[in-house]
Amino acid sequence: MPVVHFDLADGTRRSAEGDNDTPVMFLAKRNEIEAILAECGGACCCATCHVHVHPDWKDRLAPMEDDEQDMLEFAEGVDEYSRLSCQIKLTDDLDGLVVQVPESQY
Ligand code: FES
Repeated sequence: MPVVHFDLADGTRRSAEGDNDTPVMFLAKRNEIEAILAECGGACCCATCHVHVHPDWKDRLAPMEDDEQDMLEFAEGVDEYSRLSCQIKLTDDLDGLVVQVPESQY
């Protein structure tokens, strides 16, 4: 199963594994990564699952759909590495993915 590493604002790293097609957000919630609020439950309408994807991984993710791009405008501290974790689905190719949880979500 693919493993995702969550780098938290306090400098610690939490790692979790999940089945293919599982959204990274679900993995965070299941593993009690509290800063991923995910208030809409993955419906792409809240932006509280915002993460920064490590630069080494940015181009390995599926491109953003328009609704993810639109919703990201409501997140704080958005940059070129920003994604909504509910829209990133796990695949074997994403084993080892590193995402940073923005400090603004704590
Ligand atoms: S959980 Fe709401 S946009 Fe991702």
